[in-house]
Amino acid sequence: MSVAEARQYTDTGISPKNFDRLSRYIYEYSGIKMPPSKRTMLEGRLRRRLRATGIGTFDDYCDYIFKYDGLEREAVHLMDAVTTNKTDFFREPKHFEHMVDHALPTLIADGHRRLRIWSSAASIGAEAYTIAMVMEDFLKGNGNLEYSILATDLSTEVLKIARRGVYPQSMITPVDPALRKRYVLEAKDPERGEVRIHPRLRARVGFARLNLMDEKYEIGDKTQIVFCRNVLIYFDKPTQQKVLRRLCDNLVTGGFLYVGHSETITGLDLPVKQVANTVFRRV
Ligand SMILES: C[S@@+](CC[C@H](N)C(=O)[O-])C[C@H]1O[C@@H](n2cnc3c(N)ncnc32)[C@H](O)[C@@H]1O
Repeated sequence: MSVAEARQYTDTGISPKNFDRLSRYIYEYSGIKMPPSKRTMLEGRLRRRLRATGIGTFDDYCDYIFKYDGLEREAVHLMDAVTTNKTDFFREPKHFEHMVDHALPTLIADGHRRLRIWSSAASIGAEAYTIAMVMEDFLKGNGNLEYSILATDLSTEVLKIARRGVYPQSMITPVDPALRKRYVLEAKDPERGEVRIHPRLRARVGFARLNLMDEKYEIGDKTQIVFCRNVLIYFDKPTQQKVLRRLCDNLVTGGFLYVGHSETITGLDLPVKQVANTVFRRV
């Protein structure tokens, strides 16, 4: 079936009842708000899923997942479809400047020698690899420091890309040329216009699927730095409160939390104090 035919076939849209069921399920599973104003967006995103499953209409798709126990099989794909994964290397660069100028020297002064850094809504990995580039450069003047990066996300599709560490050439533009030279390699096939992250950096980053809605984050030891950027905007206040509280539980006292520049945590009850714009320290 051609894309045009498939589109025609599925153009009946999601019924109000099914939209309601879907949005409730998405909210409960991922914390992502899906108000009626997002109906067209949701339809657009689910069309690809309908084509992949061979199910003809949104109503049949909803019957499959809600009536015939398809949720167990479909939840992962549904989440891949509904998450927004926009990201960049060196996005909101002031955070990385803050990390080098303040967070890392402070943590070292506090006696930390092994740093665990967590990119908790990692998308395709640009944030984690940016942190790795910054850390590799920082390590040059601080030889006795060790670090590892944990990168987690709800979407399995983005994690696949992140693990591979291969990106379109255009994505690498925000990376300073000197860093690019050191940490970014031409991809194997030059025709494809792709670059790949140096294996040394890739070896520093561990990727895992983690839902920020989980009651407990099974990540092992506490971290010294947590990035939770540009995901809180999809959550309502009570969800933000729970997620940030759990992130704080996994942050050492004196550890640093970075949230997105457009995200505010005012009014939330959290064991942190603000140390810079959108940067907090665990107390
Ligand atoms: C817009 S991206 C932000 C990526 C990166 N932090 C940045 O600032 O460039 C938001 C990411 O949050 C992830 N996400 C959404 N809900 C989530 C949840 N409940 N648990 C974990 N990750 C989630 C999405 O899959 C998406 O990759």
